[in-house]
Amino acid sequence: MDSGFDLSFRHHHLLGIEGLQPYEIGHVLDLADSYVELNRQPSKKRALLDGLTQINLFFEVSTRTLTSFELAGKRLGADVVNMAVQGSSIKKGETLIDTAMTLNAMQPDVLVVRHQESGAVQLLARHVRCAVINAGDGSHEHPTQALLDALTIRRRKGRLEGLTVAICGDLRHSRVARSNILLLLAMGASVRLIGPPTLLPRAFESYGCQLFTDMAKGLRGCDIVMMLRLQNERMQGSFVPSVREYFHLYGLTQEKLRHAAPDALIMHPGPMNRGVEIDGVIADDIDRSAILDQVEMGVAVRMACLDLLTRSIRGEAS
Ligand code: NCD
Repeated sequence: MDSGFDLSFRHHHLLGIEGLQPYEIGHVLDLADSYVELNRQPSKKRALLDGLTQINLFFEVSTRTLTSFELAGKRLGADVVNMAVQGSSIKKGETLIDTAMTLNAMQPDVLVVRHQESGAVQLLARHVRCAVINAGDGSHEHPTQALLDALTIRRRKGRLEGLTVAICGDLRHSRVARSNILLLLAMGASVRLIGPPTLLPRAFESYGCQLFTDMAKGLRGCDIVMMLRLQNERMQGSFVPSVREYFHLYGLTQEKLRHAAPDALIMHPGPMNRGVEIDGVIADDIDRSAILDQVEMGVAVRMACLDLLTRSIRGEAS
């Protein structure tokens, strides 16, 4: 038996949703629910990670994810260090491994890593002793985003199972989409993917998703509408004719939203490009939009992940 590990979450790292069992996902969400309550108290601090060191190693720009991980670590009492290495000449391969080994020598307990290359975080995890959390690797996975999206949906709709979720936009380059697809299907939701043919990989059909190139058809009756940003930084060449035309065909407007269920929830992982993938009026609709809930849930989910991944270090098994 893997003594020392949480019996409901037996992982040393969180590298992706792939490989997580539905009961493990449920366990993270249950624990995160308790952190939502803590975060709403005036005093938000716990001494759970006292003495532990968390390094946030970000090779790509980030506002909300980095702040969210920093707050999560600090609220649990860890010493948190942010290392932003964007724009530096660090490349994948040996240099990344060198960075990992250098940091490892400083004895951190948790490394939170964002990198522009798919697979880089997994590679780094093989060269360190501490727990590693993937905060987004290329267009591969962004597990904590999918977990916080799931928590948002579960709290607003009471369940994940049986819901129809439409994920719309740049599915080709989105790690958020990939992690969400894996999580939602694992938890029994139906997933529809809507986007222009150039940004909609056919391969997702074999995951069990339904693919649509027409917003009206894809949104019909769905419970959740999740919008994605065009990942221009991951595009080589042109995938959409013009922003104007993209908004016309795929931007979420009141008119297109009428095809979804009357109580459909609108989500977006941020950063949002108003007038490109979403009309600003819809994003600000406090009854329909769960976008700020997602940000709130992000801190709670990351606290739950930090808590679970450090239990073996802290000698807790429950
Ligand atoms: C997403 C990301 O970085 O993958 N943002 C985030 O984590 N909040 C989505 C995006 O950049 O479009």
